[in-house]
Amino acid sequence: MTKKKIDIRDYAGEIIKAMRPGILLTTKVGDKVNSMTIGWGTLGIIWERPIFVAYVRHQRYTREMLDKCREFTINVPVGEYRRKILGICGSKSGRDMDKIEVAGLTPVDPEVINTPGIKELPLTLECRVLYSQEQESYKFNDEITRQFYTMETGDHFCYYGEIVSAYIIED
Ligand SMILES: Cc1cc2nc3c(=O)[nH]c(=O)nc-3n(C[C@H](O)[C@H](O)[C@H](O)COP(=O)(O)O)c2cc1C
Repeated sequence: MTKKKIDIRDYAGEIIKAMRPGILLTTKVGDKVNSMTIGWGTLGIIWERPIFVAYVRHQRYTREMLDKCREFTINVPVGEYRRKILGICGSKSGRDMDKIEVAGLTPVDPEVINTPGIKELPLTLECRVLYSQEQESYKFNDEITRQFYTMETGDHFCYYGEIVSAYIIED
C-alpha cells in the first residue's frame, strides 16, 4: 500500500464537505484501535501550525482514549465507500465491541504517529494533540445551550491536533 502525500490546503474544501454525512476519527491505546464518526471539526492554522480541532462529547469512549494517547487520525472518504461504516462507528461504542472488525475496516500503518489510518476512508490526517479543553457551559450563547447542551448530552472536549502528516492511502 502506498501513500500519496497531499497539501491540506488543496483538500480543505473536500474535507469540510465530507463532514456531512461524516468522517472518522481513529484512536489507538495499546493494541486497541477504535474509530468514531464525527460531523464537527475545524481545519485551520494556530500556533503557526496546521491544526484539526475535534469536538468529542464527554461520554464517548474516544474521549477516554484521546486523554490517554493524545493523538488521532482523521479518515475521510474519497469516492465510493460503504455508508454502513459511518452508521456503525457513529452509533456503537468501542467500549462494547471491536468496531474495526464489525465495520470491516483495515488499519494502515501510520507515518509519524502511532495511530493507524483506515484504508476504506483513505484521505488521512495524522494529528498530535497540542492542547485540549473542556468547553464551559456558562460561556455558551443561550441558543447553543438550548440546541446542543441539555443535561443528558454532556459537554464537548476540544482536541487541537497538529497535522503532522497528510496523505491519501492508495492500493
Ligand atoms: C454523522 C455523525 C456525526 C457525529 N459527530 C460527532 C462529533 O462530532 N462528536 C461527538 O462527540 N460525537 C459525534 N457523533 C456520535 C459518535 O460517533 C457516537 O456516539 C459513537 O458511537 C461514539 O463512539 P465511541 O464510544 O467508540 O467513542 C456523531 C455521529 C454521527 C452518526
